[in-house]
Amino acid sequence: MASQNIYILGIESSCDDTAASVMHNGRILSNVVANQKIHEEYGGVVPELASRAHQQNIVPVVAQALKKANITKDQLHAIAFTRGPGLMGSLLVGTSFAKSLAYGLHIPLIDVNHMQGHILAHFIDEEGFNKPPFPFLAMTISGGHTQIVRVDNYFDMTVIGETIDDAVGEAFDKSGKILGLGYPAGPEIDKRAKLGNPKAFKFTKPRVDGLNFSFSGLKTAILYFIQNETKANPNFIEENLNDICASIQYTIIGILIDKLKLAVKQTGIKHIAIGGGVSANSGIRQALKDGEQKFGWTTYVPKFEFTTDNAAMIAIVGYLKYLEGDFAEQNVAASARLKI
Ligand code: KG4
Ligand code: ZN
Repeated sequence: MASQNIYILGIESSCDDTAASVMHNGRILSNVVANQKIHEEYGGVVPELASRAHQQNIVPVVAQALKKANITKDQLHAIAFTRGPGLMGSLLVGTSFAKSLAYGLHIPLIDVNHMQGHILAHFIDEEGFNKPPFPFLAMTISGGHTQIVRVDNYFDMTVIGETIDDAVGEAFDKSGKILGLGYPAGPEIDKRAKLGNPKAFKFTKPRVDGLNFSFSGLKTAILYFIQNETKANPNFIEENLNDICASIQYTIIGILIDKLKLAVKQTGIKHIAIGGGVSANSGIRQALKDGEQKFGWTTYVPKFEFTTDNAAMIAIVGYLKYLEGDFAEQNVAASARLKI
């Protein structure tokens, strides 16, 4: 990458994390995320509360990102922000903040697609992490997204598969809710799955054509299964929790890996990069490793702090767009359903 001396501020506010990050050329100097604990009580993100929390968090989070990077705002070359997709009320906070800051500093404004951010996070310079070569397949799996994207270049991406209903993280979280686990349930299901038998209970996988996903049927199947079993034995959940978690996780991973195998078959591309909060799942990581052995894949998992929602991934897209001179106008609008 170019050897100029470029500082970019990235701002992310698409869902329930308020985040800011400073990038110097391709390296991250700071990556600050304020999680919103408030949603835990409700078992899911409440858009109204998210928007209000962003308004409270954004100024201190940006100030902290600049401080940690040890620069002042006058040293910035551009402001990159998440334009979409996401919750409109949340996106508006980051968008209007980024616009006023760029305007006040007389520097370019760069709009970023959140989904491209998850993918291009692989291009942050980070010791010990290889960058995938083009073309590669990106699988973005989180509480809000489930996509397989063919990536031919930084800004030449094609969505070749996506969920037609729930995201994979929701499948974890909603299953956890049925089991009485806290929100988000993904990490706990993962932990318990390690102690349980993945083949103890069998859940049928949805039949969805091509590379698309569906997870809502699985959630319903789990709900009916638990209702039936607890009718016969009220202690069924507590007596079998680890096995239930292991079986649910095994089913979800099976769904993801089947589609990846099909995507590799259809495209002939064996470089696979993952991103999004669910890529923290130990079972998925293991399944990808197995894929390297069994199918000759090369897999890429970014540093954990760059996989969950964060602003470093927004800053790297900002940097790449800066190098191309691809800037936004002051009248750019947030877009809840922005496509790749
Ligand atoms: O990327 P992320 O932090 O936020 C967005 O949803 O965009 O992802 C959060 C999701 C939640 O659904 C959470 O349950 C899931 O990632 N998650 C996991 C694990 N860690 C986080 N799911 C399964 N196993 C994990 N270890
Ligand atoms: Zn995300």
